[in-house]
Amino acid sequence: MERTGVLGTGMVGTAIASKLVELGYEVKMGSRTSTNESAAQWVARSGAKASRGMFSEAAAHGEAVFLCVKGDAALDAIGLANRENLEGKTVIDVTNPLDFSKGMPPTLFVCNTGSLGERLQVALPASRVVKTLNMVTSDVQVDPKRAGGDVTMFVAGNHQPAKEETSMFLRQFGWQDIIDLGDISAARGMEMLLPIWLRIFAAFGRGHFGFKVVRSA
Ligand SMILES: NC(=O)c1ccc[n+]([C@@H]2O[C@H](COP(=O)([O-])OP(=O)(O)OC[C@H]3O[C@@H](n4cnc5c(N)ncnc54)[C@H](OP(=O)(O)O)[C@@H]3O)[C@@H](O)[C@H]2O)c1
Repeated sequence: MERTGVLGTGMVGTAIASKLVELGYEVKMGSRTSTNESAAQWVARSGAKASRGMFSEAAAHGEAVFLCVKGDAALDAIGLANRENLEGKTVIDVTNPLDFSKGMPPTLFVCNTGSLGERLQVALPASRVVKTLNMVTSDVQVDPKRAGGDVTMFVAGNHQPAKEETSMFLRQFGWQDIIDLGDISAARGMEMLLPIWLRIFAAFGRGHFGFKVVRSA
C-alpha cells in the first residue's frame, strides 16, 4: 500500500497524516473546503508526499482511509466523502461520539446499546470499518511510548483482513500490545472508555497516558 487518505484537519488528522508521511506513504488530507488553513499549513511543512483536498478527494486517493472528524459530524463527513470513494476500502475510525451541547464534561450521544463505529459501518455497507485509537490522545496515537509504558490498543470490526491491515498501521506507529475485541459492536466499550479517559485527564492534567490490559500468560 502506498496511498492513504486522512479525513480531518484537527489534532488527530494532523498527527496521523504526519506519521504516515514519515513512514513513506503518500497522504492526502481532506476537509470540507479546498482552502482549509490547517491542511494548507500541514502540506507546506510536510514535503512532496503530502497533499490536500476535499473529503471526497482524500477518500478517493487512499487505499485505506483514516476518519478523524468531529464525532457528531462523522456521518456528514462520509456523505461528503462520497460513499463510492470508500467502497471496498478499510476505513479506520478514530472518532468519539462526544456531545458538548450540555457543557463540560461531554456526554456520549450514543453508548451502551450502540456506537458511532456501528453507525458508520451501517452507513458504509461496502466498506470495512475498523474502530481503533479513539481512547488515547493524538500524540500517543502515533507514538505510544509517550503514554509512559507498554500500553494496550484495541481494534474492532467485522472484517478480519481490515483489522489486520489496521494492526499493520498500528505496529508501524509503535503499538505492540494490540487486542482484537471482535466485531464492530465492540466499539461500544471502546467509546465508553471516554468518560473515564476524561476523568483521568482531569486528574493528571495531561493526556499522556493509556490503558493497559494485564493478563496471565
Ligand atoms: N484530539 C484528540 O487527541 C483525540 C484523541 C482520540 C480521538 N479523538 C477523536 O478524533 C476525532 C477528531 O478529533 P480532533 O480533535 O482532531 O478534531 P475535531 O475538532 O473533533 O474535528 C475536526 C474535523 O472535523 C471536521 N468537521 C467539523 N464539523 C464538521 C461538519 N459539520 N461536517 C463535516 N466535517 C466536520 C472538520 O472539518 P474541516 O477540516 O472542514 O474543518 C475537521 O476536519 C474526534 O471524533 C475526536 O473525538 C480525538
